[in-house]
Amino acid sequence: MFLDLVNKRESCRHFLEKEVEKEKLVNCIEAARLAPSACNSQPWSFVVVNKKDLLPEIAKSVQKIGMNKFAEKAGAFIIVCQEKANFTAKVGSVLQETAFQEIDIGIATSHICYEATAQGLSTCILGMFDDKKIIKALNLPKGKKIKLVIAVGYAASDRLRNKVRKTFEEVAFFAE
Ligand SMILES: Cc1cc2nc3c(=O)[nH]c(=O)nc-3n(C[C@H](O)[C@H](O)[C@H](O)COP(=O)(O)O)c2cc1C
Repeated sequence: MFLDLVNKRESCRHFLEKEVEKEKLVNCIEAARLAPSACNSQPWSFVVVNKKDLLPEIAKSVQKIGMNKFAEKAGAFIIVCQEKANFTAKVGSVLQETAFQEIDIGIATSHICYEATAQGLSTCILGMFDDKKIIKALNLPKGKKIKLVIAVGYAASDRLRNKVRKTFEEVAFFAE
């Protein structure tokens, strides 16, 4: 059941220092590539970082205001970038006053995390990072819009934490 996977996924902040197999990373990207998006615009691209000599630079780039030190042990990073939306998605965004591109990127990111979980990997979505440092370290085009970084690796422990969440009643109801 998909809910089992949902219960299994949690943000990992204690990675083993262990390489992540390339095929597993490819599967994560495949899951993102097939994600839904407004007007099928697919306004994303993904940079997979798994080369040993590149990892420390990225780990440093996500350590902002004392956060994310645990990233130093991640076996890989997936850099989630925003690309141009297609015309219909752009028009839709304006008419609906909703940033569909950002929603699309969130969905794709989620697909990556669940595919990683399904393969026995762990992830942590990182919203805090220095995009300029990442662009420099990876030699990406200067204007690249990095929206999220996903740390990927093997968790040091397979014990799951309790999920701290609002109750069903707080977040949902059946309309009458
Ligand atoms: C957009 C976004 C940005 C996040 N940024 C960070 C981050 O920079 N560092 C971190 O440790 N966790 C980060 N997280 C993880 C959240 O703290 C985590 O998902 C939330 O507390 C729920 O816990 P869980 O993922 O373990 O279920 C981020 C999550 C999202 C969705």
